[in-house]
Amino acid sequence: MIRGHFIVLEGIDGSGTTTQAERLRRRLDGEGLPVHVTAEPSTGPIGATIRQFLSGRLVTRLPSGISNPRWTTMALMFAADRQDHLEAEIEPNLRDGVNILCDRYMYSSIAYQSVTAGRADTTGWIAEINRYARKPDLAIYLRINPQEALQRCRERDRNVEMFDDPDLQRKIAQAYERLPELFPDVKIVTVDGGRSVEEVARECWAHVEALRAEGAPE
Ligand code: TYD
Repeated sequence: MIRGHFIVLEGIDGSGTTTQAERLRRRLDGEGLPVHVTAEPSTGPIGATIRQFLSGRLVTRLPSGISNPRWTTMALMFAADRQDHLEAEIEPNLRDGVNILCDRYMYSSIAYQSVTAGRADTTGWIAEINRYARKPDLAIYLRINPQEALQRCRERDRNVEMFDDPDLQRKIAQAYERLPELFPDVKIVTVDGGRSVEEVARECWAHVEALRAEGAPE
């Protein structure tokens, strides 16, 4: 059995990863190719706990009061969720020949957790705790102006979450720009996410077609 392609979508909040994952799913499905869309944090037990931390439903109790967990705790939780996600959902599907579209992956950890750490030299450790996370066949980074992304999030009228801060999102966008240099052995493509859904979808699909033209994954 030829394994499926493992494709991940990345970008700051409001960059359109969820919308574009769904568009790609439809295209692959339309071509009669097996496809499964998933996301991180996952729907598994660790992912569910992370979501509660992100929304403030769960907090850490310190002698000085309650607070969000520190970036180190969050990085380890995301890494643990990733391993669980790979084991329970991603790897079995890939083995069955199903293409996986994953809305966020370890590059979110590199960008978000290093920025909340406030130190760029933390990326080495974050990459290390994700060392055994399967390398994707393609990572699509949706680049968008943080101001525009924020506008989109406001239109969606979401509840406030841990990383909903304009200054933080601007820094996370800068961290994403360093990914190709940090991971030279990963195929990371940058797509201008500031255009219409249709235009962005067309370019994402072109990248997937190019990947498929290379043949079956190893
Ligand atoms: P979610 O509501 O799923 O994000 P989205 O806006 O993309 O729908 O929440 C995921 C949040 O978690 C998002 O702000 C990015 C963040 N995150 C990390 O900080 N590190 C990670 O490793 C992952 C996977 C997500």
